[in-house]
Amino acid sequence: MTAQKDPYTYHEGFGNHFSSEALPDSLPKGQNTPQKCPYDLYAEQLSGTAFTAPRTHNQRTWLYRIRPSVVHSPFQSIENPLLSLKGESTPTQLRWSPFDISKENEDFVQGLKTISFSGDPSTGNGLAIHIYTANQNMDHKAFYNSDGDFLIVPQQGRLDITTEFGKMMVSPNEICVIPRGIRYSVTLPDGPIRGYILEIFGQTHFQIPDLGPIGANGLANPRDFVTPQANYIKENNVEWKIVTKFDNKLFVAQQQHTPFDVVAWHGNYVPYKYDLSKFCVINTVSYDHIDPSIFTVLTAQSTVPGVAIADFVIFPPRWAVAENTFRPPYFHRNCMSEFMGLILGDYEGKIGGFAPGGASLHSPMTPHGPDTKAFESAYNAELKPMRVGDHTQAFMFETSLLLKVTPWALHTCGKVQEDYWKAWAQLESKFNA
Ligand SMILES: [Fe+2]
Repeated sequence: MTAQKDPYTYHEGFGNHFSSEALPDSLPKGQNTPQKCPYDLYAEQLSGTAFTAPRTHNQRTWLYRIRPSVVHSPFQSIENPLLSLKGESTPTQLRWSPFDISKENEDFVQGLKTISFSGDPSTGNGLAIHIYTANQNMDHKAFYNSDGDFLIVPQQGRLDITTEFGKMMVSPNEICVIPRGIRYSVTLPDGPIRGYILEIFGQTHFQIPDLGPIGANGLANPRDFVTPQANYIKENNVEWKIVTKFDNKLFVAQQQHTPFDVVAWHGNYVPYKYDLSKFCVINTVSYDHIDPSIFTVLTAQSTVPGVAIADFVIFPPRWAVAENTFRPPYFHRNCMSEFMGLILGDYEGKIGGFAPGGASLHSPMTPHGPDTKAFESAYNAELKPMRVGDHTQAFMFETSLLLKVTPWALHTCGKVQEDYWKAWAQLESKFNA
């Protein structure tokens, strides 16, 4: 399972300091802010961390552009009641049938709907989980998120994303991260789109996890992350709308020039994408079901060592070879919140009910595990080496925070499966004294 053909070229590597030029010698030599920049471009710094963040965490990029971003009209608020940080908490296991793509015209920004959240962008602490759906291109409209980073997980349809840094094409079974503040516009080469977004608030950014005893290679390898190359539009007197999500509300400003006029840039605060089929899967070759942290693609760490504000975890196609082992996910109660989605296929822990474009949420200390059919099947299975997860891709956003659920997700979207609890109701005692 690989991504569809991608028309764009990229820089390779995770966390690199890149230099990117759309015109020869368009980056200043030996300094960031010369009196006059090459091609008479404007210099603009985009900071993703505090100026004084430790060098290992410090992220910023210098942009050299035709007009500076500051040239725009004042912001005005836009209504979007579905982008909401109001909600209620429930310990009940939740599962949603696939979310509908609206029949009304909506673009990527208009189709953002918050499902679940914890914390608050104004204090820079927490996260939100959104669903996006869209059937229209963003036309002379750019978006940036003032609140945090978006990790975007397409489930249906490619996203052709023009960013200030260049272009990237993101297919289902790929993900992209667009850090806070970076402007972009989404068009739909395949028609209607649907997918999931994990947003982390504040100055925390995603990183690839430490590998410990695994060694220097494996899981998501750094070279498989790719970043757009500088590419600018030269346009005069064309009206653009700049929309921002600011304190989880939308605001719009107008300007008479494209925001995609960056001729050159250098730095390490960049958008990137990753093809999930490139994940190098590590797992047991002897016995027992290993904790799903072994499948972590990206993590956003809290200040407590080893505790994530959010992990992005996948359940990729692989071999299962464990001996004398109940192979599916075990029954468990977790101090973390687990939000799951399905990109395609069937998830190994649930047979039916969990469909691509749907979701589930298991909150802290809420019990869950394989449903009755999955349990019985694995309990009686002949344990020979077998393929697991072919033609599927399930994922989890796992967080140490307790998530609230919005009224839209819990009530008005009409997708909550009220009988989800019955998935386990038939599990009977097998106790034999
Ligand atoms: Fe779980």
